[in-house]
Amino acid sequence: MTVDTYRPRRSVLYIPASNDKALAKIGTLACDAVIIDLEDAVLAADKKAARDKIAGLLAGREKRCEMVVRINALASEWGADDLLAVAKAEPDGILLPKIGTPRDILEAGDLLDDNSVPDGVKLWAMVETPRALLNIGAIAELGRDPASRLNCFVAGTNDLAKATGILATPDRRYLTPWLMQLVLAARAGGLDVIDGVANDFRDLDAFARECAEGAAMGFDGKSLIHPAQIEPANRAFSPPAEALAEARAIRDAFARPENVGRGVIALDGRMVERLHLAQAEKLLAKAAIIGA
Ligand code: COA
Ligand code: MG
Repeated sequence: MTVDTYRPRRSVLYIPASNDKALAKIGTLACDAVIIDLEDAVLAADKKAARDKIAGLLAGREKRCEMVVRINALASEWGADDLLAVAKAEPDGILLPKIGTPRDILEAGDLLDDNSVPDGVKLWAMVETPRALLNIGAIAELGRDPASRLNCFVAGTNDLAKATGILATPDRRYLTPWLMQLVLAARAGGLDVIDGVANDFRDLDAFARECAEGAAMGFDGKSLIHPAQIEPANRAFSPPAEALAEARAIRDAFARPENVGRGVIALDGRMVERLHLAQAEKLLAKAAIIGA
């Protein structure tokens, strides 16, 4: 992410494409993005009807909230038809589930290119299989080539727990090493990366703790399953007031006439380098875009 292309993705809400009541709420929700789901949240018998709704849902959408559609895996009986039908509606992103290798991204990208789908339709990828984690560096590398369309990773923590057999504990101790590896890969590829869901949507205290942890781990935002999770996620993934105050102090200090030509200065007894100035400017620019 560069500052001028920054889009907040603090709160990314799944909505099953089969749930009309939930879908009707999209315009009223304060989330940064929604993922309309055609995959795991939709039963096989409802898949086709759900797909047929996408064009109507995307028509007349507001730019405020990114609209992403999660399709079924390309290897499944619905995947290819999903991809082409959804692409016609030109969502901000198409989320590919169960990817394992760079080829899975390239294949989807080729199908979009072959069908003259505009470049603005990006690919997002669920990282939820052991293979994807083992290949994550090579997959993330695609992010360095805009032609790949790859733009964002989403951690699929429920599927990862299921596929690996780890115990899903409240402190996520067994998941954390993999999640950190995912964040590292995303940064290497210049990609955004969204933390996994918290299933217990009634426990908002635990949810706030998990958001704070995700933000500290370097995630850009959190995957959500319920509207009650939007506000705490937006708060946790916005720059904190103290960090903004510190960023302003660093910017102001480097702007003083005596510091203009200096690479490193002292501020309140701490060493501050120009890399901190760059970091401060990025944070302030983000806050301005969010409106914090
Ligand atoms: N998006 C938008 N609105 C949602 C929503 C969602 N993901 N989840 C719930 N709502 C709405 C409900 O429609 C309900 O609306 P109402 O007040 O007009 O009746 C309101 O929020 C309160 O919902 P609530 O009764 O608390 O929850 P529920 O029992 O209806 O639904 C879930 C609980 C978990 C089934 C539902 O939140 C859900 O389907 N979440 C997404 C699951 C998903 O997509 N999983 C796949 C990816 S992990
Ligand atoms: Mg999954």
